[in-house]
Amino acid sequence: MRRIFDYLKKHWVYVLIAFLSLVVVDVLQIIYPKYVGRSINLIKSLPQVSDKGEWLHTLWVYGAIMVGLYLGVALFRLIYRWFLRTVAVKYDHELRMAVLYKYLSMSERDLQKFDIGDLMSRLIRDTRSIRRFIMMGTIIMVDLIVLGGLTITTMFSLSPYLTLVSVPPMIILTLFVLWAGSYMRKKFKVMLDLFGEMTERVRETAVGIKVIKTFVRENYFMRLFEDINDRYIATGVRLFTLQSSFWPMASVVVGISLVIVLWVGGDMVMKGQMSIGTLVSFMMYINMIAWPMLSIGMFITVYSMARSAITRLEEILTYEVEVKDTGTREIDRVDSIVVKDLRDDIILDGISFSVRKGEVLGITGPPGSGKTVLVKYLPRLWEPGRGMVFVNDTIDVLDVKTTSLRSHFAYVPQDPILFAGTVADNIAFAVPDATREEIIWAAKMACVWDDIQSFPDGLDTIVGERGITLSGGQRQRISIARAFLAKKEILILDDPLSAVDTHTERCIVANLKEYVKEYKPLTIIVSHRVPAIHWADYILVMDKGRILEEGTPEELRQGDGLYSRLYAYQMGGDAL
Ligand SMILES: Nc1ncnc2c1ncn2[C@@H]1O[C@H](COP(=O)(O)OP(=O)(O)OP(=O)(O)O)[C@@H](O)[C@H]1O
Ligand SMILES: [Mg+2]
Repeated sequence: MRRIFDYLKKHWVYVLIAFLSLVVVDVLQIIYPKYVGRSINLIKSLPQVSDKGEWLHTLWVYGAIMVGLYLGVALFRLIYRWFLRTVAVKYDHELRMAVLYKYLSMSERDLQKFDIGDLMSRLIRDTRSIRRFIMMGTIIMVDLIVLGGLTITTMFSLSPYLTLVSVPPMIILTLFVLWAGSYMRKKFKVMLDLFGEMTERVRETAVGIKVIKTFVRENYFMRLFEDINDRYIATGVRLFTLQSSFWPMASVVVGISLVIVLWVGGDMVMKGQMSIGTLVSFMMYINMIAWPMLSIGMFITVYSMARSAITRLEEILTYEVEVKDTGTREIDRVDSIVVKDLRDDIILDGISFSVRKGEVLGITGPPGSGKTVLVKYLPRLWEPGRGMVFVNDTIDVLDVKTTSLRSHFAYVPQDPILFAGTVADNIAFAVPDATREEIIWAAKMACVWDDIQSFPDGLDTIVGERGITLSGGQRQRISIARAFLAKKEILILDDPLSAVDTHTERCIVANLKEYVKEYKPLTIIVSHRVPAIHWADYILVMDKGRILEEGTPEELRQGDGLYSRLYAYQMGGDAL
């Protein structure tokens, strides 16, 4: 909650204006019944009045004052609503930006700790609860203190005795509301968590729909969803029942108080201890005081919701990201990558190698041997230990600003990622101002140009959920084209040929060779395919997080290790 109050402090002018307007509204509301009482007394005094002109004049003045009071209430309500809403909406915006910024600073491994659906529900729903708290919470708090306090004092000043006999039922109501509030607070966190879980289920179902259908698991997923949905609704219904009992209970309590006032006050009027006007004002105050009493319950509701929400948001906002961007060095070029005894808690177990600009390093090895994990450490997508990964021979990547470091990398991940947009947008992702010719050049280099030409709108074809669905091989090659176009000093390709046929494989490898000859990047190619790496300067064969064998392709081919067997198997036809 600190965070919310700190924010409100920052916008104290808005909050103050809203606060003052609220106080004005409350004060005006308090004055109103007094004039009702006075008017009644005035009307009642008519038979004894001698100067009818003045009498009528006074009545007019009272009328005008009452209309004025109501206009004032309306005006100041408008003012506080506007200011409060502005503050609340701004905060909503600010929080959402902060949360999204945090997501973007998280590494893949950080994000594994959160469900995407739950993150989404935090971003959308939890921020809404906080907005409500800022709006409603402030209004209720001021009403409670100012309106409640003023009403009670005014009532007291009108008749202490009548106040003392009529207020006790209200206190019982307040106690009940307080009890209910503490119960509700516990349930709200449960509800928000359930909602997050539900969003995650929907996301998972949407993403996995094909698999769910082919394996005919719809019912299973329906049941899972139904279970959460049921629990969510059950909690909601319980809360709602409790909440909706507030108003009827308040009416009953107000009714009881009114009866007491009529009984005791009526008696006082008859005995001449109180005017009829005062009694009417008093009854109006009784009606008014029910709201602040009830609003304690509402305050607890919005407060608890906001508290659960901000706790959930803070789990993200204060989360310590794995890759802390503490490095300060900027690098303007990369000549080499040196890895020394790289090990981690996942799989890598002492990997060392070095590559220089212009060189090509091939990495191969059985599935699960740690190839993908290894290359993720190089642009610091994952955080290596200190003294394990260096650029330019001696600069620890931990000392380099991550943005500066990564700006030198073109990385083709193993699972190609395409964004909603056109094919051209996707290829030009890293170079938004690329010309048409450059994009076509990159598409040709990645051997995907023929495919693109066959799309309905060529380069302008929309891909993604609302556009055409590309085949796995097409996506992979668009992702390669993106890397070619970026023309970075470091090119990392993780299994770039896993989804293409031999003909396309040859085409891409030939273009890759040409590209390397011309731009001389530092190239790392991970592949199970011998043709993809056999032209490299040096090859690492990995197994279980270690380097099993290494050497030039020729050395390895002539040896009797895994690589030579791989070569014999894959190139058998060519070699014999
Ligand atoms: N984010 C992660 N968290 C925990 N373990 C992981 C993570 N990513 C990979 N691993 C584990 O690390 C090991 C190596 O995975 P990696 O993806 O590097 O294999 P690979 O050599 O690239 O295999 P492939 O040839 O199939 O792509 C695997 O056992 C995998 O389960
Ligand atoms: Mg891999």
